[in-house]
Amino acid sequence: MTQLSLLNISGKEAVRQRLQALRRDLNLHAHRYYVLDAPILADAEYDRMFQELVALEQQHPELISPDSPSQRVGGSPLAQFETVAHTVPMLSLENAFGGDDLVDFEERLFRFLQSRTQISYMTEPKLDGLAVELVYEDGLFALGSTRGDGLVGENITLNLKTIPTIPLRLRTRDGEAAPGRLEVRGEVFIGLADFKKLNEERGKAGEPLFANPRNGAAGSLRQLDPKITATRPLDFYVYGVSDPTSLPCRNQHELLNYLGSLGFKVNPLVHLCRDISEVISRFTRLQDQRSALAYDIDGMVVKVNDFALQERLGAKARSPRWAIAAKFPASQATTRLMAVEFGVGRTGAITPVAILEPVRIGGVTVSRATLHNEDELRRKGLMLGDTVLVQRAGDVIPEVVKPVVETRTGRELPITMPTICPECGEPLIRAGQEAITRCPNPNCPAQRVRGLIHFTGKSGMDIEGLGKKAVEQLVSQGLIQDIPDIYQLELETLAALGGWGDKSAENVVRAIQASRTPPLARFLAALGIRHVGEVTAQLLAHHFGSLARLSLAGETDFLHIEGIGEQMATSLVDYFQDPTVQEMLGRLQALGVRVQEEKPDTGAGGALADSVFLFTGGLSRLSRHEAKSRIKELGGQVASGINRKVTHVVLGDNPGSKLTKARELGLTVITEDEFLRLIGR
Ligand code: IVH
Repeated sequence: MTQLSLLNISGKEAVRQRLQALRRDLNLHAHRYYVLDAPILADAEYDRMFQELVALEQQHPELISPDSPSQRVGGSPLAQFETVAHTVPMLSLENAFGGDDLVDFEERLFRFLQSRTQISYMTEPKLDGLAVELVYEDGLFALGSTRGDGLVGENITLNLKTIPTIPLRLRTRDGEAAPGRLEVRGEVFIGLADFKKLNEERGKAGEPLFANPRNGAAGSLRQLDPKITATRPLDFYVYGVSDPTSLPCRNQHELLNYLGSLGFKVNPLVHLCRDISEVISRFTRLQDQRSALAYDIDGMVVKVNDFALQERLGAKARSPRWAIAAKFPASQATTRLMAVEFGVGRTGAITPVAILEPVRIGGVTVSRATLHNEDELRRKGLMLGDTVLVQRAGDVIPEVVKPVVETRTGRELPITMPTICPECGEPLIRAGQEAITRCPNPNCPAQRVRGLIHFTGKSGMDIEGLGKKAVEQLVSQGLIQDIPDIYQLELETLAALGGWGDKSAENVVRAIQASRTPPLARFLAALGIRHVGEVTAQLLAHHFGSLARLSLAGETDFLHIEGIGEQMATSLVDYFQDPTVQEMLGRLQALGVRVQEEKPDTGAGGALADSVFLFTGGLSRLSRHEAKSRIKELGGQVASGINRKVTHVVLGDNPGSKLTKARELGLTVITEDEFLRLIGR
């Protein structure tokens, strides 16, 4: 409708019609953009229409309708989630682990049906996200809930509304009515690229990282404030309905097409198979495709296609007889431990790294794996030449699980820990209760390089183009030795380096230039002061407001801050009193680096004030006791058992049943490394 014709229709009616047209067009374009991935409208034009809609709705709030695209981000925070009983239970699936299990599955179907008729199947990638139910009433999205225990879930309607691939109104052909009530089911997930970006942003903001996309999706859906959920890159694939009987579909294949026509996103890899052998080849194929997919899948769901057959087969207590989840093999493999190298970290910590005979695990070749620390190495009882079990979980660094002692030949050799630093030769020390052996030499070249890599890296100043490789190159060429040297690098020098060109040199110089006015918290975190992670850096920045005030503070000043313990206070005072540090800060100042001041904030609780931690399994770098007192220092709490108040489950070695329970509840599970970062270790 044009502005001109608006003039012909009186006031409010004109606005109503215009709003209706805007909503229809915006929903249509959003569907093309998000669901079909085939936009036909420029982003700027979409934004313009959206702004017009919002402006009109502000003037006429009584005309806002629940399917208006503006309603995706609205919503005020909830005090708690209400429960929702599912009208039809949300069942789970039995597992199959390969072709033989799938053949057995079909045999069971034959036995149950008492005939060996040919059965066709739908195969669907099994997304590793969270199952949800969406209820549409007369075509409008009315209620959305989690699976919960299958019978009762939580009402997360407002959060689900923020997901652009969930239609607020079902699309129907002209004149066709939407079903009176439709209960749609599917999986909410976060794609791998989005997940990586989300975690990077969280790292920068000093927020805890999600262990994997599934936890990211779970954590985002469990937000009481839908505005937070709206910032998370959630996505949705539909895979079924609670009850297909009243729908114009005779089988799963037709149902998925129908759901697609209603505006839902259907996974493009779903496939109709004529028989079980075709199912098995799809399974192999999907496994090959897995590592190239933009999202995590952990298997393939196989469903009897025909609804009449599904009906006859029915369900057992927890799972339908007509479907099964064919799971991919766990990401574990055995290989040989050829050597153990000892790396020197930024803080001088000596970390043993296993050098392995290269082996493919879950589509990736693994030749190195972490052994964490000396205690861990001893606990596992590894020997050189051992056959070892190695595992990879998602994006996590591969690790050695255990030696396969049964295959020992007697020729294996013990692993000896170094007594001097492999990089600088300084005798190593292991202080008191610490699980970590360290090189105490602050001028150790390895520590310097790591310190510089940390400074320029993502948890530091985030200087683009100065990643690990570039820093190593600059150090080995003698171009930088310490932080101020970075600010003396010249364009010509960089452009002349092997592998660099004018363009990359220019970009790096520009990035360095842009980092000359860092916010205080970022700068502090970048310095890599022992025990001062991103959270503590923020705490200090809020409290002191300027680098000058901070560097003059004494131990008691630090101890007065909630969240700063003795160890940190000592470390901070030692750091800022060190003449080489003073000199370095002076040089940075002279080179034009101006750390931004922050408004000091004196009130407020600790940095972990809203966090409740639960531990499962053993920690390798500090005792539970240390971990707990650190959390308390930072204002957080520690739970003794699983409950919904828990915000972080810390995953140690050999986790117990709490882990399974935590996963079921969709709680955020973090690794020990992530935990250490949070508490500033
Ligand atoms: S069908 C009765 N289809 O797998 C049918 N489930 O244990 C049950 N899942 O919690 C679900 N992709 O979250 C189905 N294409 C798919 C699926 C799928 C992922 C998840 C779902 C459910 C679990 C089953």
